[in-house]
Amino acid sequence: MCGIVGYVGEREALPIILESLKRIEYRGYDSCGVFVLGDGEPKLHKDAGTIDDLKENLIGSEYKGKVAIGHTRWATHGAPSKRNAHPHLDGKGEIAVVHNGIIENYQLIKEELLSLGCKFVSETDTEVIPHLINLSLKKKALPKKPGSGKFDQQTFKKSLIKNAIELKEAVKEALTRLNGSYAIIVAEKGFDGLVAARKESPLIIGVGDRENFIASDVPAVLEQTNRIIYLEEGDLAVVKKDSIYIENGGAEVRREERLIPWTIEDAEKGGYEHFMLKEIHEEPRAIMDTLRGYLMEDEIKFGIDFRGEVEGKGKDILMVACGTSYYATLCGKHIIENLAKVPVQVGLASEFNYSNFVLDGTKIIAMAITQSGETADTLMALKKAKRYGSKTVALTNVLGSSVTRIADDTIYMRVGPEIGVAATKSFIAQLVIFYLLGLLLAKKPESELVEYLEELKRMPQIAQMVLDEEDTDIQMHARYLAKYEHAFFVGRGVNLPIALEGALKLKEISYIHAEGYAAGELKHGPFALLTKDTPVVVILTHDNVYEKTMGNVKEIKARGSPVIAIAEEGDEEVEKYVDAVIRVPRTSAIFSPIPNTVALHLLAYWTAKERGCEIDKPRNLAKSVTVE
Ligand code: G6P
Repeated sequence: MCGIVGYVGEREALPIILESLKRIEYRGYDSCGVFVLGDGEPKLHKDAGTIDDLKENLIGSEYKGKVAIGHTRWATHGAPSKRNAHPHLDGKGEIAVVHNGIIENYQLIKEELLSLGCKFVSETDTEVIPHLINLSLKKKALPKKPGSGKFDQQTFKKSLIKNAIELKEAVKEALTRLNGSYAIIVAEKGFDGLVAARKESPLIIGVGDRENFIASDVPAVLEQTNRIIYLEEGDLAVVKKDSIYIENGGAEVRREERLIPWTIEDAEKGGYEHFMLKEIHEEPRAIMDTLRGYLMEDEIKFGIDFRGEVEGKGKDILMVACGTSYYATLCGKHIIENLAKVPVQVGLASEFNYSNFVLDGTKIIAMAITQSGETADTLMALKKAKRYGSKTVALTNVLGSSVTRIADDTIYMRVGPEIGVAATKSFIAQLVIFYLLGLLLAKKPESELVEYLEELKRMPQIAQMVLDEEDTDIQMHARYLAKYEHAFFVGRGVNLPIALEGALKLKEISYIHAEGYAAGELKHGPFALLTKDTPVVVILTHDNVYEKTMGNVKEIKARGSPVIAIAEEGDEEVEKYVDAVIRVPRTSAIFSPIPNTVALHLLAYWTAKERGCEIDKPRNLAKSVTVE
């Protein structure tokens, strides 16, 4: 996730661009840059730091101009560095692009462009875009008259009257080459406007008076205007200071201008009341972006030789983590062992550090799973594994975080900054990585693997389907759950960790005492606590233990506890035995943790909301725990 902004108008563009970038720094902050068009040569400045660093370095600069673009980065391809910071330019430095998204097929395009003589300066996927636009512009600039002599692009370009159509068409042609997601803004020397386009990444236009703004998100422009146009999927826009032209599929379209009544703080939350709710709603996107990062043309690539380590050297996997990340690893163990039949050991980092864990490091790949990359216990655990001679891998969401400096290799979740203290979208992204790892190491027939992969690719839609039920089903059940002071969450197999996660989420934000339990274990103790005042949330997926879990439901009901089931569409049987049903789409059992998690995250959120809790910052908790 990155933030992009553009300005075209009558004022000096640079201060406006810097202010706008600052407003959306929450979208990413590992590096940033600006491109300013004025009289003379365009000015480009990039920094491997924050917007404040950028401002500091540009104070008193001669970056004058009324058209500019800017970028604040959350690195995906290529480490955070000045070289990889946006904007990216074509070979001549005349076309500049800022991009939010992931271009899946950039490697192939890059090879093609290299063979045509294009020079690349960064490791990013984005850099192919300005080169492609440049090539399209060149093609259009070819002299039409036969026999008009050798084409001299320099002379020809000088004689061109820059107009919107030309750059717009070149951008359009370049975009036909790209697979993946993008929101881009393009500036070109000599052109008094900007071209913007979006596919699966957000982009808005802020409408001003003889000036217009473009940005990833509303807070970027809210200081300047509250007149907002939301660009839609596939839109391409040409934005000048006094005109906005939008087309889609080659035809001009009209997009409604809305008046946004939000404060800046509201806007940062995307209009949601809390970051946590916004982040739950970003779960489909988190799945998609994480898949995009590691699944290229149906090939899973982590840049780490997992196969060599596991199959070649016969190593097992050890995963250490804390909190929500720990529950993800428990689920990951099921996923990887099921798909790949590779033994996975899982350790709570704080326990692992002082245990007598028998560890032959040379036979282990040790993975630290940590959203923040800063959790003290997890860092210690990884160091311990390293001391024992293990190969170490970090799975984190934060570029350059401490864990990345300890581990031999790093896999990044691609979910953008997570601000709510209770982890949500990062948990989902961790699961996605485990599915990919399981499939990478899987010993299953090719045809079966293709089916798994196809189903995995449908998970963003599946997660979205659960979110679509939020207003009806889930909020109603949350109002019901909110009345109680104790609750149990139960599941089996791959969904036991999801029950643990559901209970953790509920207790940390609603302060209801919630315990996650293996459904079959209730009878060994917790039955003593079951009364009409202890509701039990049961995950009832159609898997090899469905009947057993249904048996547990009947036992619970016999003890008078209300039961809320998380059950699949089409499971009518369940209605006979439980008090309430939250419906989720049916998937293969192995993928059921995805819809079940989204449902439980929403249930926890709406229960806490009903109880009037401080959701984004629960009492006594911190997002990143840097002490033991
Ligand atoms: C804290 C947070 C949790 C998180 C845990 C582990 O307790 O409140 O939401 O799951 O740390 O964090 P990590 O960044 O290592 O995943």
